[in-house]
Formats: sequence, structure tokens, C-alpha cells
Amino acid sequence: MPSHPAYRPRRLRRTEALRAASRETSVSPGDLVLPLFAVHGAGVRRPVSSMPGVEQTSPDELLRDAEEALSLGLGGVLLFGIPEHKDDCGSEGYADDGVVQRAVRLLKRELPDLLVITDVCLCEYTSHGHCGVLRDGDVDNDATLPLLQRVALTHAAAGADVVAPSDMMDGRVAALRGALDAGGFAGTAILSYTAKYASAFYGPFREAAESAPSSGDRRSAQMDPANALEAVREARLDVAEGADMLMVKPALAYLDVIHRVKAETGYPVFGYHVSGEYAMIEAAAQRGWIDGPRAHEEALTCIRRAGADRVVSYYARQFARSRAGRGAGVRI
Ligand code: PBG
Repeated sequence: MPSHPAYRPRRLRRTEALRAASRETSVSPGDLVLPLFAVHGAGVRRPVSSMPGVEQTSPDELLRDAEEALSLGLGGVLLFGIPEHKDDCGSEGYADDGVVQRAVRLLKRELPDLLVITDVCLCEYTSHGHCGVLRDGDVDNDATLPLLQRVALTHAAAGADVVAPSDMMDGRVAALRGALDAGGFAGTAILSYTAKYASAFYGPFREAAESAPSSGDRRSAQMDPANALEAVREARLDVAEGADMLMVKPALAYLDVIHRVKAETGYPVFGYHVSGEYAMIEAAAQRGWIDGPRAHEEALTCIRRAGADRVVSYYARQFARSRAGRGAGVRI
């Protein structure tokens, strides 16, 4: 009798070639989507202090970043806009010459092969920072839907391949699908932020997008972090309403939700590895407390392993650059 079992798991861990041969999950640049923040003007590059490596850019500079994204083989870009003026109902969000609409037109003209996804929400555009129109201090769901329809229509008209509603209003996927179809944009896909949690991990994003609510929070619209079965209900609803792809956000703290939504629907699932998750790694790495590149790669691998087909990540470019420099194979 051998003193150990016949199956020795360590046999496949001995060399990198053996580890590569038995690796279950891969991450490649094409799996990653890069978020970009558009501001008005020309030649503008404004660093976001809480997210090293992330900048607000005017459309001309954003085009350069998008060119790099395409040449690195990234799976697309996700655009957010910071308006010139904010008002009660976020009207620049659905203006034909809004900053996202302008950036999308430029990207589709110069880089037709790049996948362009736009965030559909009002919080960056409203003076109060909430995701829709307010009534008695809370977002009025049904009064917000027509405005979201206008946002999505102007994005589609500018040429967006995919619109991604992140507002969490009930019924917004059906409302957007109906408006897009009626407006002649049946081919524009919807990536629904299906399970978007009321998360503390969005903090740095709110600096980047200048979208922190001036009072209260988003808990009346976004999901309670304690709930996973509710995410499955949201996913079924979005599929029934006509969503083409589903997003879970945040990603790293919600891997079980990614797994369940994928298993329950079989739809393409995106994980949004959000600003706070990125900033935590960057901050610890700056102090020398963890190895930044290894931690970032591990996070991306684990989000893919949980079942995400695509990962929205602020680290997408650095990942692809390092991959281009050193060949394939995740080294954790
Ligand atoms: C809302 C929106 C938010 C994020 C993406 N879309 C912020 C929020 O809900 O408060 C957060 C993304 C991130 O933290 O990286 N338009």
C-alpha cells in the first residue's frame, strides 16, 4: 500500500507548463472593457486622485485612449459623461450635443471596430446627484423612465453599439427596448445593470464622475448587499423585458451573484470590478503592502472564474500592456 493516494494534486503544479496545461480559467485583453470619463473641451486630461491611472478626458484625448484600447485588443470601452451644467432633470444626459453623444460620434467615426458601450443614468447630470427626477426627496421611478429613454435614444443615434442602464429603476429595460425599437434602433443592444448593489465601493467613481448625491443615498433604488436570490429575480425580469446582456456590480465582493446569474440565465454576464475595488489594490500597493499587478490579475481571474464573460475594469489597459510585453499566461 502506498503511503499516499494515487492521485497527487501537486504533480500538475510542478512547472508553469504543467500549471498552464491544467488551468481552468484564462483572462485575455479581449475579456476586458475599459471605462472612460468624457468631459467637455479639448486637450483636457484631468487625473482622478482616488484612482491612479484614471483620468477625465475631453473627446479628442478620449479618442487616443480608445485607440490604444483597440490596438491592445480590449473588448470595448464603457463611456461616462461629466456635463458642463447640471440641472434638476439631468438634461445634458439626453442632449444631442452632450459630451457622451459627441464622444461616441467621434469614436464610431474614427474607430468603427471598437465596441462602444454607454452608461445610461442621470446621476452625473442632475444637480442633486440622484439617478432620476426627485419627488418628495425620493427618485420618482415612472417619471424617470421617459428621460432614460431619451438618454438611450441619443446614445443610439450617436452610434453606441450597446446602452447600459445603471439607474436601477423598475421597468427601465422594457422602456428602453420599446423606445429603441420605435426609434429605429432595434439593433442597439441593452446591457442591463441587473444586480447593482448599494455599495460603499463606488466612492472613488463618484469623484471621477462628479456624481455623489448631495443628500441621502441610493438605497431606495440599488440592491441590499445581503441579497442574492433577489438578484436572480432581477435577472429574470431583465431577460423578460428584453435585456441582451446582464451586469453584476460590484464584482469582486459579489462573485456568488455572478455565478448564480450566469447559471440561472445562461446570458452573457459582465462583472463590474468597481472603482473602490480598484482603489483598494492601488492604495495598498502604493504602501508596499501588496503586490499590485499580482493582486489585480488575481482579482480579474477570480471574476472570470465565477462566470463573468467580460469584466469592466480600470486595470484593463495596464493588464493588456503587460500582457503584450510578456506573452500569454496568467501568473498568480
Ligand atoms: C451610476 C454608476 C455608478 C457607477 C457606475 N454607474 C455609481 C453609483 O451608482 O453611484 C460606479 C462604478 C464604479 O464605482 O466604478 N451611473
